[in-house]
Amino acid sequence: MIIVTGGTGRLGAQIVDRLLDRVPAERVGVSVRDPGRAGDLAARGVRVRHGDFTDPRSLGEAFEGATQVLIVSTNRTGEAATAQHIAAIDAARDAGAGRILYTSHQGAAADSVFAPMLDHAATESYLSRTRTPFTALRNGFYADTVRLLIGRALETGELVAPADGPVSWTAHADLAEAAAIVLADEGRFDGPTPPLTAPNALDLDAIAGVLTELTGHPIRRVVADDAEWAATLTGRGVPADRASMLIDMFRAARRGEFATTGHALEDVLRRPATPIRSILEEAADPSMIRM
Ligand SMILES: NC(=O)c1ccc[n+]([C@@H]2O[C@H](COP(=O)([O-])OP(=O)(O)OC[C@H]3O[C@@H](n4cnc5c(N)ncnc54)[C@H](OP(=O)(O)O)[C@@H]3O)[C@@H](O)[C@H]2O)c1
Repeated sequence: MIIVTGGTGRLGAQIVDRLLDRVPAERVGVSVRDPGRAGDLAARGVRVRHGDFTDPRSLGEAFEGATQVLIVSTNRTGEAATAQHIAAIDAARDAGAGRILYTSHQGAAADSVFAPMLDHAATESYLSRTRTPFTALRNGFYADTVRLLIGRALETGELVAPADGPVSWTAHADLAEAAAIVLADEGRFDGPTPPLTAPNALDLDAIAGVLTELTGHPIRRVVADDAEWAATLTGRGVPADRASMLIDMFRAARRGEFATTGHALEDVLRRPATPIRSILEEAADPSMIRM
């Protein structure tokens, strides 16, 4: 039985969906915090069990009979994240899973300036010390994040953000499909995968260029001072620690931490990755897109 955690999250739900295209529902289980939110999966024949990374006993039941467990990384950061991942890895090992998969990141590194990358590196390190075979899916940076970074650029004509660097923006849907393919083709990758990213990396200057093309209106990239930009965010009610983490994301991008590209994702998918242009097209108000 293949168990996927986070089956009610954005990535996890899409992974299960794509997995059901490949594997009979009776071989698929989800471990979710709230089974009440997974009624649609239960109706499709998927085994739905309660599993919370902060409650190891629940994981024992949720992972029962697992041949593979895919751990979708938690949306916490820091020690809480690593502790949750370790609990899930231990539970998957104790359940007798033959392989543990984990949604890592292309930028996973112990010397990153962006906190989530340290968590991914620590989890990968723990996985490599666990005797169970593992696959760390080194996912590209979620393209959805660009929507947040664009801010009000479409209305104002100015994309205002701190100095950045190229990022290989990658669609959730592509990453979910790749994870499902790797689960269905057990053992295809062992250890950390090559970066599963779009084949090109764009900085915000280039994103502004794409937006200009899409809308037919000039969108100018304006570089903001880190501290001033963070102050604007906190002024709008964004918690200070979140604003500071976003600044760290820009710092990491400036260091080229998310610039890696490659063809591994497209090789797995056997089709081109979703271009950032399509994602921006969806993000923008249709009336602003030039046809
Ligand atoms: N590659 C990237 O650029 C990138 C960017 C941002 C985040 N990420 C990572 O990718 C993960 C998945 O992304 P997403 O878009 O699917 O985010 P999401 O919708 O917020 O999903 C996070 C999942 O983690 C689950 N979770 C949180 N705490 C848990 C716990 N204590 N026990 C068990 N499960 C727990 C959530 O469960 P519920 O469904 O019950 O809420 C949810 O399903 C994120 O959590 C984060 O680690 C990657």
